[in-house]
Amino acid sequence: MLIGIPREQQTLVAATPDTVGKLRKLGYDVAVQSGAGGRANYPDSQYETAGAQIVGDDVWSTADILITVDTPSADQLESMKPQSTLISRLAPGRHSELVDKLASLNITAMAMDTVPRISRAQAMDVLSSQANVGGYRAVIEAANAFGRLFTGQVTAAGKVPPATVYVIGTGVAGLAAIGTANSLGAVVKATDLRPETAEQVESMGAEFVAIPTAAEKSDDGYAREMTQDQAAAAAKLYAEQAALADIVITTANIPGRKSPVLLTAADVAAMKPGSVIVDMAAANGGNCELTVPGEVTTTDNGVTVIGYTDLAGRLPAQSSQLYGQNIVNLFKLITPDKDGTPVLDFDDEIIRGITVTHATASGTDILWPPPPVKVSAAPATPAPPAQDATASSPGEEKSGSGLWWKAAAAVLGVALVLVSPLSVTTNYMILMLAVVVGFYVITAVTHSLHTPLMSETNAISGIILVGAVLQVGSSNIAIAVLAFVAIVVASVNIFGGFAVTRRMLAMFQGGN
Ligand code: NAI
Repeated sequence: MLIGIPREQQTLVAATPDTVGKLRKLGYDVAVQSGAGGRANYPDSQYETAGAQIVGDDVWSTADILITVDTPSADQLESMKPQSTLISRLAPGRHSELVDKLASLNITAMAMDTVPRISRAQAMDVLSSQANVGGYRAVIEAANAFGRLFTGQVTAAGKVPPATVYVIGTGVAGLAAIGTANSLGAVVKATDLRPETAEQVESMGAEFVAIPTAAEKSDDGYAREMTQDQAAAAAKLYAEQAALADIVITTANIPGRKSPVLLTAADVAAMKPGSVIVDMAAANGGNCELTVPGEVTTTDNGVTVIGYTDLAGRLPAQSSQLYGQNIVNLFKLITPDKDGTPVLDFDDEIIRGITVTHATASGTDILWPPPPVKVSAAPATPAPPAQDATASSPGEEKSGSGLWWKAAAAVLGVALVLVSPLSVTTNYMILMLAVVVGFYVITAVTHSLHTPLMSETNAISGIILVGAVLQVGSSNIAIAVLAFVAIVVASVNIFGGFAVTRRMLAMFQGGN
């Protein structure tokens, strides 16, 4: 099937040369409209090298699957082939007229901005990938407008205090903003309706300022609307903290609704001259009463209010790459045979969740809204280990074949003890016990601790190496061969371990 990547009205593009190559590997042909990646610094020549054809406006009428970042215009939709597929950010919850139009045009539409918030879907979540870049850019815009140092300094000419940054809303964008402001040297505080985010905020190096009557713990990652008491306590807190801060970054959203106003004109009037507000909810109405979407304004008391709605688009190369990779991850899911033919399995909650309309030869089904998905932003609590008689020990194989090889190993072990001279029987017993204990210890260690465990096994390999070097000159040929094999195997383990460690250290050395 032919995937089409049109040129957009803004800087972003739905596929980069890298992601085009990945779509080709999944069996698709790709046509890119000339100049589509120009503003993200991806020239046509790079797309051609990646295996795409460069086409003109006809991308709309020829492609079987059109992928865009933003919702296409009515004209563009009308030029699409019946029964073709559109994959884009569509906000179907806010645009019922668009859903009807897609259905009337017999188009299958998939909304990348409605991916359910479940762990499996994270790799396809364009809201997260763009919010992450947006949070970073918000701090860069704030630093630019602030016009002073972020980091504190003690110099011969005097002391410079660090900038103070206050972040409201600590979802993906808020946490990215905290990390960026912190790395620039600012003192960062943050608040969220969801008290469970405090730990994440603190782990990013910021202070969590709780709303005195905080909302109940969220079990799905979405903020709830506040009660009147909570709203009053929160409003007071935001006003106090904003008056103390140099920079305020707001990211608060309630899914499916207009963003809540958290900073009133009076709150802004009480802020310090020269301070800056970056309203990341500007596209959705704004968290500050004075925000003008898409604009930068300055109040009478000298507060700059930044209402850019294209923060991720201001870093277009990486935002496009992340968006494109989200798309590739979706195609991996819907192309199980890597044959360039998408298969929409509506029993899969991700596919069901994003499919807005489904076009067939006999008509178009409107599938929006999807049934609710039980979502959880928090890591799943591990199930308690089974207590019944069939519960298995750590690392124990469940299959019948596992039992067979264990039985065979046991028989071999016993046979070795029986045929070996009495003087080495004790050594064999120790070896076998060590194997059993080692097996259970290693399989009980979590995967994330396997690297430190590897250093431990390197030490053991060192002992083996010393023993084998002492034995390799033995006149008994069997002992000499065994010692030689032991030297080879232990050396592979030791030098392999060092090689892996070296590579891991290189990852932390910033490419030096
Ligand atoms: P969002 O964009 O919906 O909201 C941003 C933040 O603002 C949220 O943390 C929300 O609690 C907060 N907020 C809303 N109203 C507020 C108010 N009046 N005062 C203070 N804070 C307020 O959230 P986002 O960034 O999309 O993520 C929310 C959560 O969902 C995060 O924990 C994130 O990790 C999780 N998530 C999980 C995904 C997955 O598992 N696939 C994908 C995306 C997010």
